[in-house]
Amino acid sequence: MIMKISVAIDGPAGAGKSTIAKLVGKKFDLMYINTGAMYRAVALLAKRNGIDTTNIDALMTMIDNMEMHFENDDLILDGVNIQNEITMPEISEIVSNYASIPEVRSKLVTLQRKMSEKYNVIMDGRDIGTVVLKNSKFKFFLTASPEERARRRYTELLNRGLDVNYDKLLEDIIKRDHIDSTRAVDPLKKADDAIEIDSSNYNITEVTEIICNFIENALQ
Ligand code: DC
Repeated sequence: MIMKISVAIDGPAGAGKSTIAKLVGKKFDLMYINTGAMYRAVALLAKRNGIDTTNIDALMTMIDNMEMHFENDDLILDGVNIQNEITMPEISEIVSNYASIPEVRSKLVTLQRKMSEKYNVIMDGRDIGTVVLKNSKFKFFLTASPEERARRRYTELLNRGLDVNYDKLLEDIIKRDHIDSTRAVDPLKKADDAIEIDSSNYNITEVTEIICNFIENALQ
């Protein structure tokens, strides 16, 4: 029998969620759903169309007309691969404001649940273990210090040839942590039944192994 499985990975920005989710996904043949990318796509399109965070009706119409799916771990919006564009600092700076809107969250959570009903998925985000995949047996919460997370983002953006400033990145991460964990609806929070892993103490391979071993043992 083919098992239906779903894996939830939550944690703050830069904790290594997406790198690790992709590796675990490959190992168990799961579709990787980067839910942060979906919120980023909303912010990108809203920015392009000049729709600010108070214009809920326009945002709802905009989201209803967005076609989003994942191909090779990248988000495709209306047929165009926007992965590079949505990870630019100017989107990182505004995305939390759109992600705090309850109506936006409700639409995206519905889309994410539909994906998880159709496919075996590994999803990363902030509210996956607490809301989107509340019934999942496999929940992980990755953390790392803000300084370590800013260092990782700095190296990543530098490698992409971007002109970045470490202090500005650290400030942005601290600001985003605050918005994400204090918002009224579905804040960033470890699910009671999630396994917490502080990735400052382990490298990517080690964290991936911890998660894979846990899933393998549970599946036996
Ligand atoms: O993981 P990320 O940095 O790409 O996420 C972008 C933003 O979206 C971040 O500010 C938090 C928000 N987000 C969220 O509120 N819920 C999710 N499930 C995923 C991301």
